[in-house]
Amino acid sequence: MILGFQLNALIIIYAGIFTFALLVFQMLVGLRKIKFKGRMHMRVHKWGAWALVVAAALHGFMGMVLYNGWRIG
Ligand code: HEM
Repeated sequence: MILGFQLNALIIIYAGIFTFALLVFQMLVGLRKIKFKGRMHMRVHKWGAWALVVAAALHGFMGMVLYNGWRIG
């Protein structure tokens, strides 16, 4: 439970699918299958990397909270 909200497995599965979609996007940008003009390209890749870190951390954290039965807040 996080701030009174009860997590369930489905939410975490959706977060995992979202994280995976970001990973695929990041790889496609890195491989230049998806292109952005000029300096935008590396900027999108750089911020994509941070978004991935945040999404993966949240996904993992929610999994730990649910399966360890932690109460946050
Ligand atoms: C999980 C997938 C990936 C992540 C998390 C990731 C993350 C990053 C990060 C954090 C940087 C540094 C950005 C900066 O300079 O501030 C970077 C640079 C770069 N990435 Fe990726 N990347 C991924 C996949 C790829 C792939 C598949 C390719 C291409 C094969 C690629 C090509 C590059 C290139 C060319 C740079 C610029 C290197 C430079 O000249 O500084 N990336 N990537």
